[in-house]
Amino acid sequence: MTESTIRWEQDRTGLVTLVLDDPNQSTNTMNQGFRESLTATADRLEAEKDSIRGIIFTSAKKTFFAGGDLRELIAVTPENAQYAFERALAIKRDLRRIETLGKPVVAAMNGAALGGGYEIALACHHRVALDAPGSKIGCPEVTLGLLPGGGGVVRTVRLLGIADALLKVLLQGTQYSPRRALENGLVHEVAATQEELLAKARAFIEANPESSQPWDKPGYRIPGGTPSSPRFAANLPAFPASLRKQTGGAPYPAPRNILAAAVEGSQVDFETAQVIESRYFVELAAGQTSKNMIQAFFFDLQAVNSGANRPKGVEPRQVRKVAVLGAGMMGAGIAYSCARAGIDVVLKDVSAEAAAKGKGYSEKLCAKAVSRGRTTQEKADELLSRITPTADPQDLAGCDAVIEAVFEDPALKHKVFQEIQHIVEPDALLCSNTSTLPITALAEGVERQADFVGLHFFSPVDKMPLVEIIKGERTGEEALARAFDLVRQIKKTPIVVNDSRGFFTSRVIGHFLDEGVAMVGEGIEPASVEQAAAQAGYPAKVLSLMDELTLTLPRKIRAETKRAVEESGGTWVTHPAEAVIDRMVDEFGRTGRSGGAGFYEYVDGKRAGLWPGLREHFTREGAEIPFRDMQERMLFSEALDTVRLLEEGVLTSVADANIGSILGIGFPGWTGGVLQYINGYDGYAGAGAGLPGFVARARELAERYGERFTPPALLVQKAEKGERFSDA
Ligand code: NAI
Repeated sequence: MTESTIRWEQDRTGLVTLVLDDPNQSTNTMNQGFRESLTATADRLEAEKDSIRGIIFTSAKKTFFAGGDLRELIAVTPENAQYAFERALAIKRDLRRIETLGKPVVAAMNGAALGGGYEIALACHHRVALDAPGSKIGCPEVTLGLLPGGGGVVRTVRLLGIADALLKVLLQGTQYSPRRALENGLVHEVAATQEELLAKARAFIEANPESSQPWDKPGYRIPGGTPSSPRFAANLPAFPASLRKQTGGAPYPAPRNILAAAVEGSQVDFETAQVIESRYFVELAAGQTSKNMIQAFFFDLQAVNSGANRPKGVEPRQVRKVAVLGAGMMGAGIAYSCARAGIDVVLKDVSAEAAAKGKGYSEKLCAKAVSRGRTTQEKADELLSRITPTADPQDLAGCDAVIEAVFEDPALKHKVFQEIQHIVEPDALLCSNTSTLPITALAEGVERQADFVGLHFFSPVDKMPLVEIIKGERTGEEALARAFDLVRQIKKTPIVVNDSRGFFTSRVIGHFLDEGVAMVGEGIEPASVEQAAAQAGYPAKVLSLMDELTLTLPRKIRAETKRAVEESGGTWVTHPAEAVIDRMVDEFGRTGRSGGAGFYEYVDGKRAGLWPGLREHFTREGAEIPFRDMQERMLFSEALDTVRLLEEGVLTSVADANIGSILGIGFPGWTGGVLQYINGYDGYAGAGAGLPGFVARARELAERYGERFTPPALLVQKAEKGERFSDA
């Protein structure tokens, strides 16, 4: 047997403290070592029961317990599913043995208890959580395409009732602070210090020598009733509807399995409910969606945030004072995000009024956060005191980083950098938040080109977690590393790409929009186009997103790109979307939401249905194409161009592509990102799964809808060699 991951400490009074402490990892997970230790612990507790007065679970790590072993879970396949099923049941059986020993069992949660960690706590009769900063409690499995398979569904349903268990814990995967966990009934007590935590655990044991779980007491009923009770049955139909609302009809199987496990499990005894839960759990673990989501939201995200793409050997550096040039929509958001991270900000615009208006954005966000109890007035005041609005370039003295966010005009960008480059610190990092202009050319406007880098934020900046860092031809490794550190300092996720028009994100999202618009031009019902995007799992429908970005923007970008392509001797290939956009703008004067009319109608700035004129001027009887083709035209157009970006060397990391596509441009999360979508392609109409199937299907789409779907050479080669997209 491996070294135990559960340390047994017993005092003279018969109090046993079980210290979770995996000797081989910095956090505790439900791995093989844990399973063996748990069985041995349950055996010993049963054998020595008479000398035991009570049991406390706690941990020697910073977190209480991290959860399932994701390396193990991602390896579950339909072939080894039976083994995974037995493994899941074994943990549950051992926890159940401890839970029903007849001795009081307390969880002294000294840090985060998510997923499997909270499930261990749920098997305890009493839960005390240390109110440590950043400590989180809950069952986030759904966000990885899974369900809590360690008894989490069975016990939350019995603790809170089906409705609360589903809505507060299981379906959204909400992570609660200890205080909010207390308010919502997930824990019984909160402790301010480690001593208090253990004292409270001991006090419970003193007071309850014969404790048991509520559900093991005679006469127990599930709070709020079960589906067989008339009151509950009346509400049951609301759940599938709310599920559809949550997933938009996209292929997320976890919520459906969670609902089934909760409802079916509530109608049977505890042991049977555990088996039902395991069956639904293993079905999810063996499926493709959980693999995609674990790959993206755990492994890829960790690789990206931990600096797999940060130049090695450059000392980490923190920014103290940043100059934000341009206090418009983006500059105002960037100023807020920097100030929130404790960085002093000088926010500069052409006039004092414009700069003050930019700061006003932070004032609004702070007031809202205070009124919702998310921060204190004191902290909000402190944040605001860090932002100095100004119109005077001299106020930028002492800034060790500059983020430029003036209008998208290269001449203006050159001018503002020239104005300030000798005022800020002599080695200040120089960043531009351009969304499309090539960085190499912009850098020519400054003397220190090696310190110049693209820092592409997304709107709204305070909410969007991604920043795309663009390396120009002359950007130095040090500047790249400093840009990376700055993005981490403001707690966002940095991806790194090489310079190119539109970089990665702006270029790829353009294909999604073009494809949606092109379908309208082909005469397809616009409402079906929107529906196809939603059911593919895109967070924003394609025509509504086009309206948000304005229809004039793609025209401007296209004109510039066309000029650049032709200047470099290339041939411009017209996209069928262009004609539709031109008609919308030139013939009908519809430029998008900001202009009050676009693909949608707007009343008082609010979307009020698709413009009926679309049907009149574009839609044709019999123009419908298969729904799956509609979805895949959008998904494939983005994935295929991402492969071209890898070929061109603009993208250098698969993890960056996957994370950037989900966090930056709304590529559906169930796919695990734009390249993982290809890896995990489910095959269609006999085309096979993975890369070969994807290639075959792309060729089919090319034949039907245009050469833009022709698979790039890199993809074809990889498919032929049996490879997949991976950084390993
Ligand atoms: P905006 O029009 O809201 O703001 C631009 C601001 O720059 C205005 O307040 C203007 O007064 C100011 N400005 C103009 N000349 C100036 C000067 N000489 N010195 C200081 N400030 C000056 O534009 P927005 O949307 O904030 O965009 C700014 C930049 O960010 C553009 O390059 C844009 O392409 C890029 N971007 C925009 C995104 C978006 O979603 N709007 C997303 C990512 C990047």
